[in-house]
Amino acid sequence: MKILVAITGATGALYAQRLLDNLDPGKHELHVVLSNYAQQVISVELPGGLKLPAGVPVHNLKSMNAPFASGSNPPDVMVVIPCTMGTMGRIAHGYSEDVLLRAADVTLKEKKKLILVPRETPFSLIHIKNMELLILAGAIIMPANPSFYSGAGSVVQVVDTVVARVLDHMGIANKLAPRWAEELE
Ligand SMILES: Cc1cc2nc3c(=O)[nH]c(=O)nc-3n(C[C@H](O)[C@H](O)[C@H](O)COP(=O)(O)O)c2cc1C
Repeated sequence: MKILVAITGATGALYAQRLLDNLDPGKHELHVVLSNYAQQVISVELPGGLKLPAGVPVHNLKSMNAPFASGSNPPDVMVVIPCTMGTMGRIAHGYSEDVLLRAADVTLKEKKKLILVPRETPFSLIHIKNMELLILAGAIIMPANPSFYSGAGSVVQVVDTVVARVLDHMGIANKLAPRWAEELE
């Protein structure tokens, strides 16, 4: 699959890191794009910065010189993780002024899979209406809401309960987090 991971400036950069840690660039064509504010949050939340799998390109936000800027070459899956309310609103309303927003627009119009992992609390009606619009347009909204029934004991294990569900929706087999009522090996 051709996969685009977009990272924005919401708290939860670790969600993006754990997703990237669990995508195999040998099996998939991976691309990464960061919003301007993503870098600021990464510098606060990821000591040592974002670690990318070898050979994965990070595209310049302001250049449309990336495959997924055109409907002729869309990603199979685009994941925005974590997704700010700002980026969510801009995607919902068709802003396409940078390559991240354009890629989301392309992904939706080409009927490919767009997964958004929003992080905010509480939600305003504006956020909810934007989510409604995005769901109607075909996006999958997977809020960064961890689960605790599997007994996650570390921050990474808690984060992985969200990332595992994202991988499920990407169609990528994983055993990142225990599943409910699953026999433990
Ligand atoms: C440390 C930090 C944490 C933030 N967390 C969130 C958040 O969880 N959700 C959100 O919508 N915005 C959050 N913001 C605000 C966004 O970064 C800000 O609205 C920015 O303009 C979003 O731009 P972007 O969507 O292009 O990344 C945070 C900002 C900082 C500095």
